[in-house]
Amino acid sequence: MAINTVMVIGAGQMGAGIAQVFAQSGFDVKLNDLQEEALEKGRAGIEKRLTRAVEKGRMTEDEKTGRLSRLATTTTLADAHDCDFVVEAVVENMDVKKKVFSELDTHAPAHAILASNTSSLPITEIAASTKRADQVIGMHFMNPVPVMKLVEIIRGLQTSDETYQAIEDMTKQLSKTPVEVRDFPGFVSNRVLMPMINEAIYTVYEGVAEPEAVDEVMKLGMNHPMGPLTLADFIGLDTCLYIMEVLHEGFGDSKYRPCPLLRQYVQAGWLGKKSGRGFYQYE
Ligand code: CAA
Ligand code: NAD
Repeated sequence: MAINTVMVIGAGQMGAGIAQVFAQSGFDVKLNDLQEEALEKGRAGIEKRLTRAVEKGRMTEDEKTGRLSRLATTTTLADAHDCDFVVEAVVENMDVKKKVFSELDTHAPAHAILASNTSSLPITEIAASTKRADQVIGMHFMNPVPVMKLVEIIRGLQTSDETYQAIEDMTKQLSKTPVEVRDFPGFVSNRVLMPMINEAIYTVYEGVAEPEAVDEVMKLGMNHPMGPLTLADFIGLDTCLYIMEVLHEGFGDSKYRPCPLLRQYVQAGWLGKKSGRGFYQYE
């Protein structure tokens, strides 16, 4: 089955990046969000990054205009009626994702594959909120999407081989590298990454070191491109907390207990870069 038209649900930092990558690879893209403001911000970010690609000689002005003309925005899920593929990137919350998938199931054509960009939640449970669990899959892009090569692909219990193959092929078409993992809390990426970030937050909470020092240790000592607290601010502290909660509940193991300081920052609305304050101040 050919995939030509795709919908991306959620125009936040992940959704906008995913929409850009699909547009750049020649797909017709519909970017969906509840809020017009998020759509405008998402589209403006894509335009800015494509302008930079032109400046750097990676794309011509005509190509940029062509790609942008194939990128539509919408606040209506019913616009999925002619999409061959839909990928969801809304907040990391099971109830919200299930609601989106069950509604989407009524609008998307019968042949369409539905994917979630969830960081940690069970694909099997998301799939069960539709009547096409065999056509539901996890497609976990990394942040920033236009730069990072990996896509973690997660099959739910009922995902068919045909669905898996179509998504693996499409990932390669996006010039990304697919890696298949099983449907376990946090998959591989966040089961390994997020406890490190959580532990870095504990070192601040326990007064072992200031955020700058923790980041410096991991950057200069371990050659990480960003220190763990800068990375946490970049990912979003709300998303980090939700992922830790999924790991904690999913494995029932106290080693995944979210650091109280992380919880407190989220309660304060300090969500990292996107809210202007996290472990660091922005602007
Ligand atoms: N969006 C789009 N493009 C971006 C970007 C962003 N947010 N940030 C940087 N870039 C682009 C720049 O435009 C630049 O491209 P050009 O070739 O056009 O110049 C390129 O990336 C390199 O940027 P810089 O030279 O400014 O910066 P850098 O060398 O410091 O690299 C980085 C930036 C790639 C983000 C690097 O710091 C890095 O790899 N950080 C770690 C990222 C990471 O770990 N991501 C995974 C997060 S976890 C996750 O995604 C899973 C989850 O579920 C939470
Ligand atoms: P974000 O907060 O930047 O954006 C979420 C967007 O979804 C917002 O614009 C919001 O208005 C929109 N939204 C919320 N409910 C919606 C609905 N019912 N319908 C349509 N739009 C809706 O979040 P993000 O960082 O882009 O994360 C999105 C998803 O991607 C989460 O599941 C997250 O775990 C996952 N993820 C995040 C990262 C990361 O580094 N931030 C990396 C990989 C995966």
